[in-house]
Amino acid sequence: MSSIPNHLLIKAINHEPIDRTPIWVMRQAGRYLPEYIKLKNKAGGFINLIKNPELACEITMQPLNRFSLDSAIVFSDILVIADMIGINLSFVENKGPVFDKTITTQSDLESLQVLDDITKLNYVFQTIKLIKKELNNKKPLIGFIGSPWTVATYVIEGNSSKTFKNVLHLLKNDVSLMHNILDMLTNISIKYLNKQIESGIDVAMIFDTWGSLLSDNDYEIFSLNYIKKIKNSIINKDIPIIYYVRESGGKIDFLKKLNVDVIGIDSTTNIREFKNSIGNKFALQGNLDVDILKSDKKTIYNSVNNILKEYNNPSGHIFNLGTGITPDIHPDKVKYLIDVLADVSPQYNVK
Ligand code: CP3
Repeated sequence: MSSIPNHLLIKAINHEPIDRTPIWVMRQAGRYLPEYIKLKNKAGGFINLIKNPELACEITMQPLNRFSLDSAIVFSDILVIADMIGINLSFVENKGPVFDKTITTQSDLESLQVLDDITKLNYVFQTIKLIKKELNNKKPLIGFIGSPWTVATYVIEGNSSKTFKNVLHLLKNDVSLMHNILDMLTNISIKYLNKQIESGIDVAMIFDTWGSLLSDNDYEIFSLNYIKKIKNSIINKDIPIIYYVRESGGKIDFLKKLNVDVIGIDSTTNIREFKNSIGNKFALQGNLDVDILKSDKKTIYNSVNNILKEYNNPSGHIFNLGTGITPDIHPDKVKYLIDVLADVSPQYNVK
């Protein structure tokens, strides 16, 4: 049983009656908040924040101190798992993640020191314990990993590629190396996620951002089959799993077979059409277009109302953006979004 079964977010996941729709925001701790920028500058950058449990805990709590959000999410990154394969990760301002090594050949893969030593990520587990203490079971804590496929795109490219040249080359020319990389990442992801669960997370999320690069059978073979393996290796079957993928609309037949609790969708997908095709097996998370938060209040109000109207079911929905919040959003717009949802959603939930 979850340690907080009565929380709104957990009830929504379980399709239990709720009196309003819960909300959290992808990247809710981040550069749109002045208090984040201040602490990041003081710490000397993003990596210094995530590797320092006290600071990572403080950053995690910043959006919860400001807004009525229904969940916290561990302040970290899907790419910290590089620490377990002896690849050094840095973040370059305005450029994103950069690795000091890439894997594009079998000998690159063999030369890695794949460490079974989960203690390399102790800073994350320590952060989780501090946040749990701070939250005091009043709100759930979401822990997360990247999908093996999505993390693979970064270790193959070495940075945030826009063309995925090396990934697409491998996919075409060396399928067995691709599977070897995915197997390696799956094995360490299982250990990493299980240790997050042991450390106290209430919900686990798997980010498969670049699952959108794959279609049809390739999506199943190179991404979903590894998600299934992770799901089957989880130590605590009561921890709900949220699986997020972009451009999910064309993937419904494959997603149907996935054994997770929630599917997170981006704003390219219509939530009503998605719900109608996928049925009641999953709760859904999403899917307001982040750019709507740059518009006036009326537009935000109408867009929120429209998503609720399209979803039109009494439970099983966690409100969120379709992608992470960007630095150009004013925090007041987030407050307005949360207020509107609290005002409008009860009429859809109370039946
Ligand atoms: O959602 C949260 O608030 C939790 C923390 C979190 C971060 N990254 C913090 C972060 C989570 C869950 C992630 C996931 C993540 N990281 C994904 C999957 C989700 C998605 O956004 O598609 C991916 C692909 C990454 C890899 C990554 N991390 C990239 C490509 C970048 C640079 C581009 C960008 O969006 O800034 C990051 C940096 C990053 N991760 C920041 C934060 C707060 C910005 C750090 C800064 O410069 O201050």
